[in-house]
Amino acid sequence: MDKFVIKGGRRLTGEVVISGAKNAAVAILPAVILSDEPCVIENVPTISDVNICLRILREMGAVIDELGNNTYRIDPTPIYSFCVPYETARKMRASYYFLGALLGKFNKARVSMPGGCPLGDRPIDQHLKAFSALGANYTLSQGMIDLTADKLCGNPIFFDVVTVGATMNAMLAAVKAEGLTVIENAAKEPHIVDLANFLNSMGANIMGAGTDVIKIRGVEKLRGTTYAVIPDQIEAGTFMAAIAATKGDAIIKNVIPKHLESITKKMEKIGVNIEQYDDSIRVWVDGPLVKANIKTAPHPGFPTDMQSQIATLLTLADGTSIITENIWDQRFGYVDELRRMGADITVNGKVALIEGTGKLMGAPVKACDLRAGAALIIAGLAASGVTEIEDIFHIERGYDCMEGKLRKLGADIEKVSIPDNKASAKNSGKAAV
Ligand code: EPU
Repeated sequence: MDKFVIKGGRRLTGEVVISGAKNAAVAILPAVILSDEPCVIENVPTISDVNICLRILREMGAVIDELGNNTYRIDPTPIYSFCVPYETARKMRASYYFLGALLGKFNKARVSMPGGCPLGDRPIDQHLKAFSALGANYTLSQGMIDLTADKLCGNPIFFDVVTVGATMNAMLAAVKAEGLTVIENAAKEPHIVDLANFLNSMGANIMGAGTDVIKIRGVEKLRGTTYAVIPDQIEAGTFMAAIAATKGDAIIKNVIPKHLESITKKMEKIGVNIEQYDDSIRVWVDGPLVKANIKTAPHPGFPTDMQSQIATLLTLADGTSIITENIWDQRFGYVDELRRMGADITVNGKVALIEGTGKLMGAPVKACDLRAGAALIIAGLAASGVTEIEDIFHIERGYDCMEGKLRKLGADIEKVSIPDNKASAKNSGKAAV
């Protein structure tokens, strides 16, 4: 087990390069299964969720060559297994994308139910509704989801809630289904568009991704392609918050500024200066940070995955800020840890009230999920004294070499091994985000 040890109080300056998007990569890698030829995927982030995806593909029979420079050549043609067992599925919530990809390719799939997770209830009813609309039958037994279809046929799918995962899964299952599938109330996140672009580059016919109506005309075959995953919007947002929290001045490279709009607007309100270029931004603070109210919402609203990082920034601002979390029931798990660092935050249901104290103090803390971990890193960088963060395996699920990138920006952060007998017993078997 490892922990991060951060000596706070250093301004972040210089340049940082953002990696490929986790939430795009974990859908694009399973989507390779749909191809009848090998694919080359570039800009794949080095994170443990991606490692799990690659492991699942290998266990199914895919042949994967690492070409260096975050690029993988994946040959899905030898795949002989349609099953993702519990042992691997439980480690990554997004293992549900194997359902859509296997069903779309082989008309059958067997994937363990994704485990519980620290964000609250995470149903998959909308995923199953989409598969049923396309003609698949499902059974849930012994913790496994079995999908079978004689033939998949295009059909209308209307989602009762806006859901990223079910929108992506519906696209994966529909891409080779006979006829036209129309997905209404679809999610519009940048990773939805990225998956559609990837599938279209293999010969799929998907229109409207990025709007709330996606039309998919089924095709018989999909060919190999070379495709680069988009930059990670949330990693970029996390660095924006970290630079701002340390009153730093740095350039964030390899970003799509349009994807950052909702984050940029809020940060500017808080007093952060942001200058946008073609594929990079400069972030700096030269005045006081001020309160803001934030409500999380599906894209193009403020992303829930940036909620804890911006909350940390607001603990350093003047005035009282209100954060309303509208996507997940339990996304304030980081609050108790921030309180240990001197933050004044009160949570009532889905609303958090933050009294900006202008300062944080180092303390030993624990990450309870990926973005909570990111928030604690930001807090540690801005705090006086030393912060030690345990359970960093959560952070390594979704951030590519976070400590190395922060060190290049001037942070004093080290990854230190904790002897196994001292590591938190809570680590074993935790579910993924
Ligand atoms: N929902 C349902 N039924 C479903 C599916 C979702 O009611 O069948 C509800 C959920 O309970 C939630 C809302 O719909 O209240 C949105 O869930 P969504 O399906 O959009 O979330 P997800 O696909 O499971 C992805 C990201 C999350 C991110 C959310 C929202 C991946 C692998 N995960 O989850 O990312 O918070 O979208 O944007 O793409 C993270 O990266 O830290 C993370 C948790």
